[in-house]
This record gives sequence, C-alpha cells and structure tokens, in this order.
Amino acid sequence: MAEGQFPGTRLRRNRRTPWLRAMVRESTLLPSNLIWPVFVTAGPEAEPIATLPGIVRHPLDALPALAREAASLGIPAIALFPSTPADRRSDDGREALNPDNLVCRAVRTIKDATDAIGVMTDVALDPYTTHGHDGLVDRKGRVRNDATVEVLVGQALNQVAAGADIVAPSDMMDGRVAAIRRALEAAGHHDTHLMAYSAKYASSFYGPFRDAVGASAHLRGDKSGYQMDPANVREALREVALDIAEGADSVMVKPGLPCLDVVRAVAERFDVPVFAYCVSGEYAMVEAAVAAGMLDRGRVVPELLLGFRRAGAAGILTYHAPWMARALRA
Ligand code: PBG
Repeated sequence: MAEGQFPGTRLRRNRRTPWLRAMVRESTLLPSNLIWPVFVTAGPEAEPIATLPGIVRHPLDALPALAREAASLGIPAIALFPSTPADRRSDDGREALNPDNLVCRAVRTIKDATDAIGVMTDVALDPYTTHGHDGLVDRKGRVRNDATVEVLVGQALNQVAAGADIVAPSDMMDGRVAAIRRALEAAGHHDTHLMAYSAKYASSFYGPFRDAVGASAHLRGDKSGYQMDPANVREALREVALDIAEGADSVMVKPGLPCLDVVRAVAERFDVPVFAYCVSGEYAMVEAAVAAGMLDRGRVVPELLLGFRRAGAAGILTYHAPWMARALRA
C-alpha cells in the first residue's frame, strides 16, 4: 500500500461527524471578525435605500442604541458613512473640514454613549463634492493628487478631533497615508489606527453605496483615474507595501468576493492585518437572490464570509455584520 494513497489515506475520515469536522476546521468566523458599515442621515427618520434592501440611513439619535447593540453582539467596530444633503456639497468639498459636519456629529454621538466599540471614519471627499469624486478636480475633470492630499489631512484631523478611533482613507491618492500619519503624530494623536484602503479597485459593485450616500446623482465620469484596474494584482502588492511603509496599521482590499485572490496574495506577503470590504453590490446580490427565493441567507452568508477568512482576511466589512453576529450567537 503506497503511502499517502487510497485506501490508507481516506480524506472522508475527517468529515465523518460534526465533532471531527470541528476538530480539523482550518478557519473560523467570529463576531470579532466583522466590521459594520453604517449610513447616517441628518434627517429625523430612518430612510430606506432602494438598492440596499434591509439597510437604512440612520438618524443621529438612533446611533447610541445601535452602537451598544453592536458592541453587545461582539462587533468590534462600526464604520460611519454620512449622506450629505445637496446644499452641503461644493466643488472643493469643504464640508469635510467642518467640525460640526454630519459624520463628526455621528462620531461624537456614539463616543458619548459608549466606549465599548471602535468608530471608524472614511477619509475621501466624495460625500462632500458636487462632482462626486474623492478629491479636487481640475478644469478637465481630472482629480488632482497633491492638492487633494492636503484636504484629506484636514479631514482626517477633523474626524479624529471628533473622536474617531480609526481613520480609513478610501480615496486612493498617492502619498496620503504618509501625510495623514505625519499630521496625526504632529497633533499628538499617536494612537489613531489608520486602516488604508490600499487595494481599492474601480468597481461597479459600489453602485448601491453611492445611492446610499447620495453620490450617484452627482458623480461625473468614473474613478478609474485613481482607483485600481480590476485586471491587476501585482500593483495591489505595491500599493500595500507603500501604505505599510507610510504608516498604515492595517490594509484593506475592496471589493471582496471578486478580489479574494488579492486578499490571499496580500496576506501571504505582508505581516499586517488585512481587511476586506464585502461591498454594497455584493450585499445587494445576495439579498436579491434571497428575496427571489433563489438562495438561503442562513446558509450562503456564513459560507461567503468564511471564504474571506480562509483567504486570509483578519476581518470583513459587511452590511450583514449584525445579522451574522446574531446568527453566530444563536
Ligand atoms: C468612498 C467609498 C466608497 C465605498 C466606500 N468608501 C465608494 C466609492 O469609492 O465610490 C464603497 C463601499 C460599498 O460599495 O459598500 N470613497
């Protein structure tokens, strides 16, 4: 009988019973692996989002209860995304620097209510610009890198002053991580965690998110001039290497399911926590199939999120976070 061959080797032996499968399981999914992206509105009521069934924009006064509940479910952090009213948008996105803007008020509301959960904010100008781009544009509509970085630094400092624990630049400008880190250190914010959206692709899976934050109606052109080409993975490794060198505490790959190979490549190469964002279009795909009776949420969502963990993700940003955390506890 040759070694490592049937019948001496029978891989089904390890799959025979639930306890055996548990004993040899390679990956786990815990509530602590989930980060919950939450949309915020300045309005008084929760607002449904047509392209994200089951997800609403939350009014400020709903945030304390929401944060306490997430913490009690074992979710370590919430990522806040403001839906900015059209009259607060401008060409230069200066509302990003307003200490009383919606996201700063949301951060303070949560931080005043509980310390049991981390609060993460997105650094990019798209919630605040009339053209919907993540940065400042020139006369030809191209996003200007260095001028944008200066504003992003101010935006990040503004969020941290409001109490943000984690700042997450999602803009894909070159050099922004170094600039933000330098400014944070200079301002004495030595402990702010910087999660870099390092490998963020120009993806069509962000569509429902742009509806949720009111950017779809504004966006002129697309973001391929700064977000990554979905054809590339070697370039993602360069982005990650730069962001680590510039002072990122963790890095992110986005979108998720179309990029699990990128998650794997980054996790193998770098000793930094890697996060993946299972984005709005991925959530919408699953929920549309569930609503049509084509898929069973109770089975597909755990399988899908476990796939991120198997690929090497330390955690997953997912709109399914509270649902998943509850299911894990049951
Ligand atoms: C903003 C930002 C986007 C997402 C997170 N931060 C949209 C974009 O880059 O256009 C997408 C998240 C999602 O689709 O769930 N820069």
